[in-house]
Amino acid sequence: MITIKTPAEIAVMRKASQIVAEILAALVAAVRPGITTEELDQLAEDLTYKKGAKPAFKGYKPGDVVYPKCLCVSINNEIVHGIPSSRKLKAGDIVGLDFGVVYEGFYGDSARTVAVGPVPERVTKLLNVTRESLYAGIAQARAGNRISDIARAVQETVERAGFSVVTDFAGHGIGRRLHEDPQVPNYFRLGMPNPRLREGMALAIEPMVNEGTPDLEILSDGWTAVTADGKLSAHFEHSIAITSNGPEILSELENV
Ligand code: MF3
Ligand code: CO
Repeated sequence: MITIKTPAEIAVMRKASQIVAEILAALVAAVRPGITTEELDQLAEDLTYKKGAKPAFKGYKPGDVVYPKCLCVSINNEIVHGIPSSRKLKAGDIVGLDFGVVYEGFYGDSARTVAVGPVPERVTKLLNVTRESLYAGIAQARAGNRISDIARAVQETVERAGFSVVTDFAGHGIGRRLHEDPQVPNYFRLGMPNPRLREGMALAIEPMVNEGTPDLEILSDGWTAVTADGKLSAHFEHSIAITSNGPEILSELENV
């Protein structure tokens, strides 16, 4: 069932998503060679409580294995759901930071991938194309369109650039739960559920883009998704609302 949010509910979701955006900005500012992914997680957790919110991911248990941390930190060949640890970031790494909070009963969820210091042009292109594919998808998030319009826009942006979209994970509806209907895949196949978009829907759109094959493996920690070929992967995510004026990006940092 797809929930429709009232303007008042979207206002609370905007606040939750702004908290996520502020914390992601602080995390990006803290990224440097030598910092451990656990230190980033601790920073995210401290800021979350300071802002009157709660971490969305810690304790989350969709299957057999509970997610133990607040933040997902996915480095290089890791696609999503990397678990913070004593691992240190190195110059030349790319690092995906995926973070969510719950605030006054509503979730916000957003992710970015950044380079740790200078990286080759091809790697910058992977980051840019992944971000562009997210914005191409968001532009299609209008009442009257369908989920497939978002999916196609993401996929076309990625494949035109010679990269591949991950098909084993998708974006999702968001609201009083982190994961709501509908699923928001980053590719389109005939026969997949394809609901029409309506004003008041809120979606987390989150392309995961691989340099090489779209295939992935899950590590023995039960969470970390890595590319099957060991090549790089990038991830960007925004929480958005569909309004009468088109898409509103709830998790884009507003000028403060
Ligand atoms: N942004 C990711 C998602 O929407 C984060 C989930 S991590 C988890 O699925 F631990 F909460 F699963
Ligand atoms: Co998400």
